[in-house]
Amino acid sequence: MRSLSLTAAAKINLYLEITGDRPDGYHELVMVLQSIDLRDRITLRRRSDDHLTLEVIPEGLAPADATNLALRAARILWERTPNVGGVHITLEKHIPVGGGLAGGSTDGAAVLVGLNHFWDLGLNHADLCTLAAQLGSDVPFCLQGGTALATGRGEVVTPLPNVGSLTMVLAKPKALAVSTVWAYKTFRAERLLSTSPVHGQHYSQNLLRALNHHAPVEEWAPWLYNDLERVVLPHHGAIAQLKSVLQNPEPDLRPLQVLMSGSGATLFALCGDRAHAIALGEFIRHTQPEVEAWVVHGQGHSIALD
Ligand code: C5P
Repeated sequence: MRSLSLTAAAKINLYLEITGDRPDGYHELVMVLQSIDLRDRITLRRRSDDHLTLEVIPEGLAPADATNLALRAARILWERTPNVGGVHITLEKHIPVGGGLAGGSTDGAAVLVGLNHFWDLGLNHADLCTLAAQLGSDVPFCLQGGTALATGRGEVVTPLPNVGSLTMVLAKPKALAVSTVWAYKTFRAERLLSTSPVHGQHYSQNLLRALNHHAPVEEWAPWLYNDLERVVLPHHGAIAQLKSVLQNPEPDLRPLQVLMSGSGATLFALCGDRAHAIALGEFIRHTQPEVEAWVVHGQGHSIALD
């Protein structure tokens, strides 16, 4: 095999609650994650030497150096496999960087899956999950995809029944990226754990019960929640303002729910159907020139051979 291509799906957080501080510096989380059909494309090509190289398209959109999770994933596998040779990775970015959509994590997951095939390593799903957790808290979910509960620091992934058809508008202020490290650090510095508005309110239990019973989106949309909005929205007026525009567009375009994904800067607006999402997306594009918007859908997997 000289080359192999894969697609890697973004995710949204239907739920993100910070339930504790951890001694390792991370936070204890309860998250519900959902893969969406916004995808990067990764191509692996054999090299004649034993170097690991990365090219990002468009150039400069994400770092093409050792901080990129695609390259880090390749290095982890390369270091544990003698004489495997080199690989050139081409990463076509469609998922915004710094958007809270796990774009970097899903690229890393795709390289793990892809090189396992490409180099015929014979690693099983559990082996890949262990390596994924070393790369980042969201990478194990990105290996699995679909709809899932993620706990611990995010790396303990339990599948949930696939949410059927889910249609939404993603919207993000152009050129705004939020650092995940900054968001969690500020959450800790501002001691927001002690003032949780959902503590003892059974939001996550209600959401999980509805999802496990295959309830329609209208029933569980009220239980969506993201603790990181409490730090990101007050510091980034553009995201707060966009949230309010999405919540109150023209009356017949009002979505079921609007929430920030991960640490932002992307918001998602859940819509009743595709026609509704297309109309809301058009409204945002016409009225908010500083915002980029996509109509996307939930999907039941994350990494796929192309
Ligand atoms: O695991 P990952 O490298 O993706 O996490 C990025 C950063 O997000 C961590 O360095 C940490 O600052 C923060 N984080 C956290 N608690 C988590 C997950 C991430 O504080 N459960």
